[in-house]
Amino acid sequence: MSQPAVKYTGPPRVFSGMQPTGDLHLGNYLGALKKFVDLQHSHECVYCIVDLHAVTVWQDPKILAAQTRNIAAAYLAAGVDPDKAIIYPQSAVRGHTELAWFFNCVARIGWLSRMTQFKEKSGKNSENMSVGLYDYPVLQAADILLFKATHVPVGEDQKQHLELSRDIAQKFNNDFEVPGFFPLPEPLIKGPGARIMSLRDGTKKMSKSDPSVNSRINLTDNADAIAKKIRKAKTDAGVIPESLKELDDRPELANLVGIYGAFAEISKQQVLDKYAGKGFGVFKPALAELAVEILHPITERMNDYLKNPDETDRVLAKGAQAANQIAEPILAEIRDVMGFWKLKP
Ligand code: AMP
Ligand code: TRP
Repeated sequence: MSQPAVKYTGPPRVFSGMQPTGDLHLGNYLGALKKFVDLQHSHECVYCIVDLHAVTVWQDPKILAAQTRNIAAAYLAAGVDPDKAIIYPQSAVRGHTELAWFFNCVARIGWLSRMTQFKEKSGKNSENMSVGLYDYPVLQAADILLFKATHVPVGEDQKQHLELSRDIAQKFNNDFEVPGFFPLPEPLIKGPGARIMSLRDGTKKMSKSDPSVNSRINLTDNADAIAKKIRKAKTDAGVIPESLKELDDRPELANLVGIYGAFAEISKQQVLDKYAGKGFGVFKPALAELAVEILHPITERMNDYLKNPDETDRVLAKGAQAANQIAEPILAEIRDVMGFWKLKP
């Protein structure tokens, strides 16, 4: 029987992660990373590089560790402070895989079969995908709940996975009659950066896997490349309108206005108020200037970190230790709740 919902009373904690697969782009930055940086001032934060998720599709063992360092470098360069937040690789904390197994026995096949990201990634080829790719969202729930995290900054594409995490937490609390044991983690998705679209097609998400390099701005792009990609971004022939309503059937413009808003930390309406009646000849250079002003220092810092992998490794090692210190007692508690054997003290 399901128990009445009992509120979680533990401390608030932020958790999020990114996969070490390819370069981070503007969508990753505005959708997630920028929020990582902002949240560290107000919350205890744990930021993971999810290499176990990455290997759900083939990763070359020769470059996996370097890719993990790249993401760590991006976190640091964007302003995540390792003295404030924990940064670590997922595979360095064994609790992730163990809890994922426990949650495999809580989550239902029907829940997973509804996950749209698996359908998108596997397409018509789902029979040939790894079991791990199907199970991906269960591991994600384990990531979050291994830390009893209450808040999860992510882009909009992760909304369904977060709902699954909540369902798993709720079912665990009910099944084992431990009301309020796990928090129901809340996604932090709001803001104009939550869904950044391709610069070549305003109806498609900006993505690492898009074959067109002009569709995305990478955090490793230099100032010229950033300006050029914005200049070349697909647009229509109109001018910037006054009202948000008029953005509805102009997806490319809506995207650029959203990007401007996310950078400038103003609403889309405020962007329109500033540029209404002006053409792209005015708006695009202004956006490019703003993008370069914010991204260029990040790119520079990232290159410094990439040149100095030992420093990044020190951050990761320290982070792994700190993450384990939080996760181990929580995992022990979970094992107790589930009734596994242990040596009597
Ligand atoms: P991934 O690179 O798939 O591990 O994604 C890392 C984070 O970036 C997740 O929180 C995603 O939701 C977010 N993200 C990825 N693409 C976009 C996008 N186009 N717009 C906004 N957020 C995104
Ligand atoms: N699935 C997320 C993505 O592709 C990455 C991720 C893995 C994650 N575990 C997480 C995000 C836990 C937030 C919390 O973007």
